[in-house]
Amino acid sequence: MRFLITAGPTREPIDPVRYISNRSSGKMGYAIAEAALEAGHEVVLISGPVGLKRPRGAAVVPISTSDQMFDAVQEQTRNCDVLVMCAAVADYKPVAVFTKKLKKRDAKLSLELIPTRDILASLPKSRKYFVVGFAAETESIETSARKKLLKKNCDAVVANDARIAMESDENQVEIYFRDGETKKISRASKKIVAHELIKMFEKRLTKKIV
Ligand code: CTP
Repeated sequence: MRFLITAGPTREPIDPVRYISNRSSGKMGYAIAEAALEAGHEVVLISGPVGLKRPRGAAVVPISTSDQMFDAVQEQTRNCDVLVMCAAVADYKPVAVFTKKLKKRDAKLSLELIPTRDILASLPKSRKYFVVGFAAETESIETSARKKLLKKNCDAVVANDARIAMESDENQVEIYFRDGETKKISRASKKIVAHELIKMFEKRLTKKIV
């Protein structure tokens, strides 16, 4: 199968030296890419800026901004069987990017932000590939994840607690499928969680019962 996986944060530039971003390390997405490769799948990895080694055998598409990730996903979904949107895409970006470095002044500074485009929600409703979203939450994890599943028209959502997952080597997740089925993977290394996730998606796609 062909897996398209997004990983890491995006950076939304403010001026030539500053940006808005988040604490995503990319470790979960990279672990999923490694697990898919080990299971014999083809992998395209759209990666935000992270300090991780490129998984051997993956085609890596490096991006920086949410707009670049948006374009890369549009392009690469033309030829994939599963999209795993693990990336922590920035939700807002500056209205305008200053072309010169902002000078420090003795006054308050306000930055006007606009929402970025939602990549998952922009995918066609009718499509041939299986779509897995991620939900990074700090409260009401199940309710929020189920809302994202419907609102973003995903086939499954992997919910994790951002306080456990961010920058860590471990994760624990709950998976909500569109048909109502729910699965849990208890706290373990991201490598183990990734292998379990790949097994689940494989079973779903080959129409066996998970
Ligand atoms: N996502 C996306 N495009 C964005 C923002 C997020 O495709 N502009 C995707 C993420 O890759 C993830 C899912 O949407 O698969 C949920 O991301 P999350 O950060 O949990 O939720 P948000 O939609 O950003 O909502 P909130 O911040 O309110 O929880």
